[in-house]
Amino acid sequence: MDKIIIAPSILSADFANLGKEIEKIDQAGADWIHIDVMDGKFVPNLTIGPSVVKSLRRYTDKPFDVHLMIEDPLQYIEEFVAAGANILTVHIESSKHIDRVINAIKDFKVLAGIAINPATPVCLIKDIVDIVDLVLIMAVNPGFGGQKFINYSLNKIQEVRDSIGGKKIFIEVDGGINANNVEHVVSCGCNVVVAGSFIFSSNEYKKQIEKLRVR
Ligand code: DX5
Ligand code: ZN
Repeated sequence: MDKIIIAPSILSADFANLGKEIEKIDQAGADWIHIDVMDGKFVPNLTIGPSVVKSLRRYTDKPFDVHLMIEDPLQYIEEFVAAGANILTVHIESSKHIDRVINAIKDFKVLAGIAINPATPVCLIKDIVDIVDLVLIMAVNPGFGGQKFINYSLNKIQEVRDSIGGKKIFIEVDGGINANNVEHVVSCGCNVVVAGSFIFSSNEYKKQIEKLRVR
């Protein structure tokens, strides 16, 4: 089995010390750094923009996995790439012309991901899956860390896994993941685990990351 990627979400990190937090989570064994971008429109919360991403870039060489929870992401793709994003994921619900957005991301030679909210059926991404590098299945309604995992997301992971056949693609699950449910999430076909509060609510990031590594 391919290695499972652990992508800590810095949404639950100490925002007053983000550079230090990134260094700490890198040393604790994070594979990717998951960065949640929110615009107060697509989701009812505001977080960070490209200038913060840019200033964090020098604290780690690990891939920046940027999750855009914003309306009309097309206009910001170039800025996030310039800021140092390695993976840019946009929501299917965010744009009228999502194919254009995905192709714009790919034109910059970074990885392109498509995200779906809990209530969005997998059939809506059936065609776009052919051209993306990553599918992000939200297991909570996006906007906040520390929410409870929505159980029907498990079927969606399986559905995405079944629909891609043998294609090599990242299947990322985000929201409410902890040591008790990670095994189930991975057994359904997830190969990128995002976790925010489970990791950052402890002082021992390394231990928490190890608990998420399902064997
Ligand atoms: C929610 C974000 C998640 C969030 C996960 O909108 O996309 O990445 O930080 O946090 P936990 O793991 O606490 O649910
Ligand atoms: Zn996220």
